Amino acid sequence: MKFKHSLYILPLSLSFALLAAEPSWRTLVEDGLHDPTSPAIGVLQEPASALSLLPPDTTGNQVSWIRALREGYIEPRTNILPETKIEVLDMDIIMEKTGELSLVMFPHKPHTEWLDCANCHDKIFVEKVDANPINMFAILSGEYCGQCHGAVAFPLTECNRCHSVARSSFTGKPGVQPISVSD
Ligand code: HEC
Ligand code: HEC
Ligand code: HEC
Repeated sequence: MKFKHSLYILPLSLSFALLAAEPSWRTLVEDGLHDPTSPAIGVLQEPASALSLLPPDTTGNQVSWIRALREGYIEPRTNILPETKIEVLDMDIIMEKTGELSLVMFPHKPHTEWLDCANCHDKIFVEKVDANPINMFAILSGEYCGQCHGAVAFPLTECNRCHSVARSSFTGKPGVQPISVSD
């Protein structure tokens, strides 16, 4: 029993440590990815010089990419081929198989501002509510949401960003929500 408790306390104290820290980025010399003796060091832009100008986040690479896009800090090219159709879908889905934890709200809008439908449908998720046996173990193993979260999107230690809807305050029906509850 004692062992089980300490397992939960570790990620908690880790995230508090992150919350308290000022954003900082490793330099190219110390990031373990670049050759510190390469002549490119000193020519390449340092992560801190680019990322410190963007809206901050408390986790991951410490940039709120959602805000960076919406507030016009960055303007990534949406398509290479002119005929590619861009579709942003405003559809929130509430998932209820979360044990005693808060419900999960999956918002299509912030995802489709970055991603094409085909990035998820149907390879990661069948395009139908409840048609996917999603669970936390599979996510932590890198499936479903875990294909991106913890890899290129905010990490899985941020439970509340996904488990964002308190059971006690939710009076609607799980699945597709009638009106958007995200911005
Ligand atoms: C990237 C989004 C995401 C994050 C972050 C996340 N979860 Fe989940 N979690 C889900 C989804 C989706 C489900 C499945 C919901 C469904 O199918 O109805 C789930 C299900 C669960 C369940 C239900 C039982 C099970 O095994 O599936 C528990 C408990 C749970 N999560 C705990 C956590 C905890 C604790 C954290 C933080 C350490 C966390 N989750 C972080 C998305 C997330
Ligand atoms: C980041 C991944 C992701 C992207 C990108 C994405 N979706 Fe989804 N979509 C989901 C998830 C997760 C569900 C819910 C699956 C479940 O409940 O098991 C879903 C469900 C759906 C559903 C089912 C609704 C219902 O009534 O059953 C439709 C329709 C849908 N998506 C359309 C789209 C379209 C159109 C796009 C592109 C504009 C898109 N999705 C992009 C993840 C995604
Ligand atoms: C194909 C990649 C991909 C998959 C799969 C995916 N996400 Fe995301 N998600 C992203 C990206 C990229 C962002 C934006 C960057 C960030 O916030 O880190 C994002 C952002 C979010 C946000 C933040 C929205 C906001 O307004 O701040 C939530 C909540 C979220 N995802 C939940 C989920 C849940 C729940 C699942 C699984 C049902 C899931 N995501 C699956 C890529 C993905």
